[in-house]
Order: sequence, then structure tokens, then C-alpha cells
Amino acid sequence: MSETVVELKGVSKWYPGAEDRKVLEGIDLEVCAGQRFAVVGPSGCGKSTLLNLLGTLDLPSEGEVIFGGQNLQGASEKDMAALRSEEIGFIFQLHHLLPQCSALENVLVPTLALANRPDESEVMERAERLLKRMGLGDQMESRPSQLSGGERQRVAVVRALINQPRLILADEPTGALDEDNATKLMDLLIELNEEESVALVLVTHDLEMAGRLGDVKELREGKLGE
Ligand SMILES: Nc1ncnc2c1ncn2[C@@H]1O[C@H](COP(=O)(O)OP(=O)(O)OP(=O)(O)O)[C@@H](O)[C@H]1O
Ligand SMILES: [Mg+2]
Repeated sequence: MSETVVELKGVSKWYPGAEDRKVLEGIDLEVCAGQRFAVVGPSGCGKSTLLNLLGTLDLPSEGEVIFGGQNLQGASEKDMAALRSEEIGFIFQLHHLLPQCSALENVLVPTLALANRPDESEVMERAERLLKRMGLGDQMESRPSQLSGGERQRVAVVRALINQPRLILADEPTGALDEDNATKLMDLLIELNEEESVALVLVTHDLEMAGRLGDVKELREGKLGE
């Protein structure tokens, strides 16, 4: 059995002012090292809410989130921020790259948040290696405005990977890409999942993309089914 990365136990979520509407209801979910699955469901069904809970960006209204064996109930915001920067890579629909920084500099940003910063040359080597692997070897010094949408999203993927996370959370990462670039990005995420045994949770409304992960869970009326 692989080691558990994050686990939800009886998790429900509702938002302030809408207490009568449970976005998530009694969810049990275990994400293990090297595992991958997609979460699908209609707009507003709670996919991003679920991802935010797995990524410790939000806390449940009810139930427990256990990350790396640590129960987050009562964890300080500082502890959760440290955990996020060390263990989790986020990829969103829009990449949020810093416009004034080069591709390489953007990739290095998450390393600045680490309490124990790794050796500078080691980080630089990893950043350059990953960028090359994504076909961005010639564009490391380019700013986001000089890159195509697909290239920017690949920079965002490298940025999510730079700290060697145990979990990648991707929320509609191909939403802003054409089909060709979307396929390439999916290939890449699957490769990384297989090679670095990083767990991958992908939210998408594209059933074909979802199907590529081999395991598709549907979020419906607050509950997660196969
Ligand atoms: N911060 C918030 N405050 C209040 N309500 C929220 C908040 N975030 C989400 N919601 C509500 O919770 C429900 C689920 O939202 P969520 O963003 O998780 O859906 P989603 O499945 O990701 O949708 P989409 O596919 O459109 O991204 C929606 O009805 C939304 O309006
Ligand atoms: Mg969403």
C-alpha cells in the first residue's frame, strides 16, 4: 500500500450566509502517493471547493482533513502555509505568472517561501532541467507576455513542481488552451505522476481529459461517486 498523502474524513462544506446549502456532504476520500484521478461534475457542484480543502486553502465546516498524517483542525495558518509550499503544487486555469519576471524567475518563486531553502545551484539546476523538458529551454529568459498560452501554462506546471511536491492539484488547467496544447499538458502531467510518483488530482469538465487519467470521480449533490 502506498503512503497516504491527504485524507478527508466525513467532510462537509457550506459557506457563510448559505448554511442551508451543503456544497459538500460527508465526503470520505484518501489520496495516496502516486495515485491519480479526475473530478468531474457540472459548474457549481463544488469541484474547486473540494480541491481547496485537499490543498489546505480552506477548512471544512464539518469533518477532518488529515495531511501527511497531521490533522489540520487546529493547525495554525503559518503551519498550513508551510505545508502548502513544501508539499503541494497548484495549477489553475489561469496561470497567474508574474508579468515582470522571466519564465525562470517565475519558476523559482515558490522556493522563496521554503523555511529551509535548498542549495541555490540545486534549485537552479532543477528549474532549468524541468523547463527544458517542457520544451522551454530557449525561453527561460522570456517574460509571460512573450510566450504563447500553452507555453505560459507549461511554465506554471514547472513552477508547481519546483519544490518536489507530493501532491499536484490542477483546477481546469487546460481550460484556456487549444486542443493540441491541452493534450500535451495532459501527457506531461501523466508522465510526472508516473515518474515522480506525485499524486495528481485534476478537476475538469472535459470528460475526454478526465478519462485519460483512468480514474474518474463524479461530484454530484455534494457527494463523490465513481
Ligand atoms: N467563497 C465562497 N463563498 C460563498 N459561496 C461560495 C464560495 N465559493 C464557492 N461558493 C459556492 O459554492 C458552490 C460550489 O462552488 P465551486 O467553485 O466549488 O464549484 P465548481 O464545481 O468548481 O464550479 P466551476 O466548474 O464553475 O468552477 C457554488 O454554488 C458557489 O457559488
Ligand atoms: Mg471551479
